[in-house]
Amino acid sequence: MNVLVTGGTGAVGHAAVSLLAGQGYSVTVVGRQEGLPVPAGRYVACDITDYESLESVIAGHDAIVHLAAYNSPVGVSGRDVFRVNSLGTFNVFEAAARLGVRRVVGASSINAVGYFFGDRSVPLEYLPIDEAHAVLATDAYSFSKQSMEAIGSYFWERDRIASVMLRLPGVIPHDDILENRERYATYDPAIIDRFLEMSADERQSELARLQAEYDAFRRRNRSDEHRGTGWWARPDSACRLSLDELRFMHHKVNFFTYVDELDCAQAILRGLVADYTGSHPLFINAHRNALGISLADLGKLYDADRPDIRPTRPGDTSAVSIDRARERIGFEPRWVLPDGSN
Ligand SMILES: NC(=O)c1ccc[n+]([C@@H]2O[C@H](COP(=O)([O-])OP(=O)(O)OC[C@H]3O[C@@H](n4cnc5c(N)ncnc54)[C@H](O)[C@@H]3O)[C@@H](O)[C@H]2O)c1
Repeated sequence: MNVLVTGGTGAVGHAAVSLLAGQGYSVTVVGRQEGLPVPAGRYVACDITDYESLESVIAGHDAIVHLAAYNSPVGVSGRDVFRVNSLGTFNVFEAAARLGVRRVVGASSINAVGYFFGDRSVPLEYLPIDEAHAVLATDAYSFSKQSMEAIGSYFWERDRIASVMLRLPGVIPHDDILENRERYATYDPAIIDRFLEMSADERQSELARLQAEYDAFRRRNRSDEHRGTGWWARPDSACRLSLDELRFMHHKVNFFTYVDELDCAQAILRGLVADYTGSHPLFINAHRNALGISLADLGKLYDADRPDIRPTRPGDTSAVSIDRARERIGFEPRWVLPDGSN
């Protein structure tokens, strides 16, 4: 099978391209820069917003893995995020439709929920969340991910292109997951113990205070308008969160999720070969949370919303369910952070 991977030289694409080539697929990688080396495949420079060029590059391929995008709104205007991520995705599907390609695997994001870069958060109804949970986009990046999922549905209805849109969390290099855990616990873990030791009422009001401060911080620093990088890393002068609290909130709104790059690559491969029809957003993440605590305790960190805690498969502690990915494409994560084996 000839597979075209847009954005295949990036953080997510690297492991996926190696896996696909290792499985005997003939891989063409598309990126924006000229002449990048791709040891496991052929490389073509092409801007996905240039439809005519893109169509000529896609010709001759049987399936597409679509990863090319801005992977964050930080330092980019909302208009550019929309142009590359949403229009670029439409172009990929449009070319696929015209050329008879009937399978696309796309990189959506956990940001399709709208919780991380937005300035308002969707009220949590239940945990673990799943693909049926409500979403709310108030930033261009989250909206671009929601729009690419809608584009996938449109091209299923119009041209019968079967696709999965993988809602990825932070994708962790495999070596880091084995050795570099500190990178993913950027705040003093005592903050978690403090919350778990509080009474339920105390915790609810303290978490509500943090969320209100955090949302106000976001509104003052809207990701669509801010051109700098690093604005999210430190509290601004009006922010009454400590650095630890701010970092805790960054992780909290990503549901303390992560995925190893090898598991991400596995999901991409399964998205290409699994037997399904339709277009499906699928959460793809480790089945354990990054804190190494039970789901019942993790749920307490969301007490301000008082979500319903639903039963999970034995051993699953993630606040984001991967059951639909298990059912649709047979995804089963292999790698978890060292102390995530509770
Ligand atoms: N890295 C993560 O943790 C993460 C998490 C969730 C979702 N995602 C999604 O996964 C995908 C890949 O992310 P990444 O982290 O590998 O990004 P990256 O920035 O490392 O790589 C992006 C790739 O896309 C290419 N690209 C960007 N704009 C392009 C254009 N206009 N035309 C052609 N190529 C273009 C770049 O050349 C690069 O190869 C993105 O859709 C991103 O939103 C990533």
